[in-house]
Amino acid sequence: MTAPNWKPFPVTNNPQFKQYLETCQSRVNRALETWLPAVTIQPEKLHQAMRYATFNGGKRVRPLLVYAAGRALGVVPEQLDGAACAVELIHAYSLVHDDLPAMDDDDLRRGSPTCHKAFDEATAILTGDALQTLAFQVLCKDPELNADPAVRLQMVENLACASCSRGMAGGQAIDLDAIGKTLDIAQLENMHIHKTGALIRASVNMAILSAPDIPAEHIEKLDHYAKCIGLAFQVQDDILDVSSDTETLGKTQGKDKFQDKPTYPSLLGLQAARERAQLLAEEALASLARFDQNADPLRWLASYIVERSH
Ligand code: IPE
Ligand code: IPE
Ligand code: MG
Ligand code: MG
Ligand code: MG
Repeated sequence: MTAPNWKPFPVTNNPQFKQYLETCQSRVNRALETWLPAVTIQPEKLHQAMRYATFNGGKRVRPLLVYAAGRALGVVPEQLDGAACAVELIHAYSLVHDDLPAMDDDDLRRGSPTCHKAFDEATAILTGDALQTLAFQVLCKDPELNADPAVRLQMVENLACASCSRGMAGGQAIDLDAIGKTLDIAQLENMHIHKTGALIRASVNMAILSAPDIPAEHIEKLDHYAKCIGLAFQVQDDILDVSSDTETLGKTQGKDKFQDKPTYPSLLGLQAARERAQLLAEEALASLARFDQNADPLRWLASYIVERSH
């Protein structure tokens, strides 16, 4: 069932979107390849685990948002590779720690054993630590990123705020504390905005920070877009946990219910959760109304986030 006014910007069987997706994925993979230490460098096991956790088939949605927001604002991708790389490194770290026995205790991620299963728990903890710190090193050192030190500082702050106790890590703390509890919709939304929305918002903000002289109205609209799809992303993740299957997801289906986590479907039911995700995507699309066709990749991504099957 769809929300009454849901008019997606077409992504399914859209060859332009497919090509855009693959181009951006290749770009960020090349950048990650450059920044991650080789597996032959000591300590080898840690470097193997960092690469394992990064190159195991992620969708690269956050880097895609960096590039797509850059395109809408006229920033060339070369100037965004470092930022795209940094947000994905934080994301990869967050997944490694999210899967640990002390957190969600998951065995499967992206269709392969989770990092602590493939290696060991101590290595997985260190992998997360090292991916996180590498993200900030990339923002400091990437030669193509905006050369103005003040802009770089803003980028570092942007990523730190999104990842800290008042961002993603805080959201994860709320998530763990909510196990077995019934949250109301505002509390659930607050958890999702922090654990997932913050990094998605920061990804769009990376492009905003890279672009000189953007009208304040454009910044506001893009930020609103990012807030909407950041929440929609986690609503869809909750939906897929209920409605998809382990093979498609690449992670164990039904884990939220098994662990008694409050989610959108558990609170609202599946159909209302779907409607909520679609309304958020619609709101995101509406906030791009004044942008030209260079914002189409952002429009595709808003639809993709709520139409994706994994
Ligand atoms: C999964 O994120 C974790 C959440 C924040 C919901 P993604 O669905 O982006 O995971 P990958 O990177 O594509 O595996
Ligand atoms: C994870 O949320 C959010 C972060 C990693 C910050 P989930 O726990 O729902 O993600 P999955 O379902 O394991 O990918
Ligand atoms: Mg979790
Ligand atoms: Mg999890
Ligand atoms: Mg989930």
